[in-house]
Amino acid sequence: MRKGILGLTAAAAALSLGLTACGGDGGDNSGAAPSGAASSEAAAKPGKIGVILPDSKSSPRWETADRKYLEEAFKAAGVEYDIQNAQNDKTAFQTIADQMITNGATVLAIVNLDSGTGKAVIDKAKAQGVPVIDYDRLTLGGGASYYVSFDNVKVGQLQGEGLVQCLTDKKADKPIVAELNGSPTDNNATLFKQGYDSVLKPKFDSGEYVKGPDQSVPDWDPRKAGTIFEQMFTSEPKIAGVLAANDNLGNAAITVLKKQKLNGKVPVTGQDAGVQGLQNVLAGDQCMTVYKAVKKEADAAAELAIALAKGEKPTVSGSVKDTETGQDVPSVLLDPQSITFDSVKDVVADGYVTKEELCKGDFADKCTKAGIQ
Ligand code: BGC
Repeated sequence: MRKGILGLTAAAAALSLGLTACGGDGGDNSGAAPSGAASSEAAAKPGKIGVILPDSKSSPRWETADRKYLEEAFKAAGVEYDIQNAQNDKTAFQTIADQMITNGATVLAIVNLDSGTGKAVIDKAKAQGVPVIDYDRLTLGGGASYYVSFDNVKVGQLQGEGLVQCLTDKKADKPIVAELNGSPTDNNATLFKQGYDSVLKPKFDSGEYVKGPDQSVPDWDPRKAGTIFEQMFTSEPKIAGVLAANDNLGNAAITVLKKQKLNGKVPVTGQDAGVQGLQNVLAGDQCMTVYKAVKKEADAAAELAIALAKGEKPTVSGSVKDTETGQDVPSVLLDPQSITFDSVKDVVADGYVTKEELCKGDFADKCTKAGIQ
């Protein structure tokens, strides 16, 4: 149903290694030169891959997970790469892209800061024959060559369902539910909201829940989230549940709730399953998070980028409709997983966080209770 809204033709499509080599990587069919490529040279030496990450404050994932896994994949393949972080600066984002191309990047993978500057980067790159992969965030109207992400409506749906479960467990009666949404310039934030509103709106409409304040957090900035939630709480002190779109926003809400000694009483959601988010779940201050196996996302993007750098034209089985252009963008969409107290151990078992960093100090006992080995 939600896939229809999004226009996903193949959610959770694995890349399945089904890369169709159109470039000359087969030494013995040198006669079959691909059109428009300086084939033999491209085959001999893959081009350089440039990756631009968005910032390091909106979520710990970009520097601790995405960078690490992308680097590992590029190193294992022996390709040249350059990974930079735009630190939430849209001008810097574009300058980095220009410099990467000047310095020989033949493929870019970008996590845009908004669709406008993302599109500017894609347009320029395309004009120079450099394909661009939209990594995690779709650039609306951008026309990237590929899009690699998770099923983001599903992420939101898991958050909505998680909050409902926690409110049910607490036997909340007509709870007032607040929404702390992600950045209005991030298409993912729109998709997450689509997902959780599909769960919450029917409850508001039926009167089972009461709709509380509902606001977006510019740039996913946790400090702004703190201020916004503080105001929400002042205007509506009876907030009984918080749909926070990621762990950093959730933590901002928890910090405010703590001052009122309401942490743990008012369920809060999240996403990203980083150390702090998982610790908030273990402490009982956060009702759930969503784990996205970033290694799989990074591996899929790296595999595409490496193929493109070799002059190949990889095929993927899924696609997503760009709601601005109506065009299908070839896509790889992975499956997110809901995490509660009992499943925190799954994230550790997957190697996304280590027991050492998670189970420090006061958390040692909680880790034991949660069955973390
Ligand atoms: C990502 C989330 C992340 C958020 C803030 C979104 O586009 O999908 O994982 O928490 O941006 O960086």
